Amino acid sequence: MNNRIKVGILISGNGTNLQAIIDASQKDDFPAEIVIVISNNPSAYGLKRAILADIPIKVIDHKLFNHREDFDSAVSIELRKADCELVCLAGFMRILSEQFIDEWPMKIINIHPSLLPSFRGRNVQKQAIDAGVRIAGCTVHFVISELDAGPIIAQAAVPVLKTDNSDSLSARILRQENHIYPLALELVARQTQGEPMSTVRTNIPNAEEKLISLY
Ligand code: GRF
Repeated sequence: MNNRIKVGILISGNGTNLQAIIDASQKDDFPAEIVIVISNNPSAYGLKRAILADIPIKVIDHKLFNHREDFDSAVSIELRKADCELVCLAGFMRILSEQFIDEWPMKIINIHPSLLPSFRGRNVQKQAIDAGVRIAGCTVHFVISELDAGPIIAQAAVPVLKTDNSDSLSARILRQENHIYPLALELVARQTQGEPMSTVRTNIPNAEEKLISLY
């Protein structure tokens, strides 16, 4: 497809969400292409996934910077160099400065392993178990300066089983993250290409059912 939206992906670790987006973007009609993968962690496994898919990578180690804003500027410069139009945070474990977020207004997308607005911050799967909720899940949302807030793009629900611990619940939520992140990116990329949201939805078969999936 011509006119694909150029996307930069920021990672810190394993990169299963990155992999899900790589797989989706290999389809001819996917409206986005990954033009760079940036990791703050030099040993992130996700870097190998990008190399295997022939995607340019850049390591920007946050430990080499004294100030958060300086690290963020270095990231922004690389994203600009690659002509990125959208930025996906995929297991990126750094909080971004207001300066960075202002530079990319409504252009940054994040995946979070809870049904926002419940359970923000870290260890949210444990927070969900400790709170005794019966339904957990994950959320793809636009990034604003408030942490784990911002307009919601897609969510998937995951039941909490009586036998669950934080690890087992995290693993089932992650499978759903991998499912909805490419769908959410597809929605946003099509909108960025100028399609109205209503048209976007009809382009994905059974979009409503897929975005809220219970199993
Ligand atoms: C995911 O649960 C993501 O939501 C969280 O970090 C986990 C790792 O994701 N922030 P990935 O396998 O590196 O994509």
